[in-house]
Amino acid sequence: MENIHPIFDTILTKQDKESLLKQRAKVIWMVGLSGSGKSTLARALENDLHNKGYLTKLLDGDNLRTGVNNNLGFSTEERRENIRRAAEVSKLFADCGIITICSLISPTHDIRSMARDIIGRDSYLEVFINCPLEVCEERDVKGLYAKARKGEIKAFTGISSPFEAPATPDIELRTDIHNLADSSRQLVEAVLPVIDYKDEK
Ligand code: ADX
Repeated sequence: MENIHPIFDTILTKQDKESLLKQRAKVIWMVGLSGSGKSTLARALENDLHNKGYLTKLLDGDNLRTGVNNNLGFSTEERRENIRRAAEVSKLFADCGIITICSLISPTHDIRSMARDIIGRDSYLEVFINCPLEVCEERDVKGLYAKARKGEIKAFTGISSPFEAPATPDIELRTDIHNLADSSRQLVEAVLPVIDYKDEK
């Protein structure tokens, strides 16, 4: 036991990192059906923030599922674990002062409330990319809806697996009504005040 030296008083805090980077390290959690425009808007947001001088990290469900989550499928339990890991990783980035943008379907109230609890209510900003299933299916960017209808993909969100729309998102964007440029502008305008850093002297 003698060589255990507590170091907690020397560990730098999230506030130290935010002060260095002059930004508020929120986790911007983008929720929505496959094909709703989450990832496109997430990428646009990251680019805009980067160009304005903010340090960001983008975590996308599709990409996470090729790495840290590559052993997970789409059952309720596996989606829950997928979101749990994504939320824990987001928290690590946010604790380092980095604005973290997450793009995952996050289909249920239960799953999102777990993510919010892991990240912390004050750091979690929920963005609902709201687009009706019919429109997402019509777009079918990846051809997955057609496969799901034919039964070639099981438990597909919106078709054979539930999607519960967020009841009280912090930001809601209707990508069936507004084009990418307008939705993107609305998103940046809503996010900027939240990540703005004011010196607290
Ligand atoms: S989540 O439900 O666990 O949040 P996540 O965002 O990681 O999902 O992954 C969704 C992506 O996986 C979709 O955009 C799609 O490309 C792909 N995918 C493959 N199978 C399914 C499925 N059964 N349901 C939903 N998305 C699927």
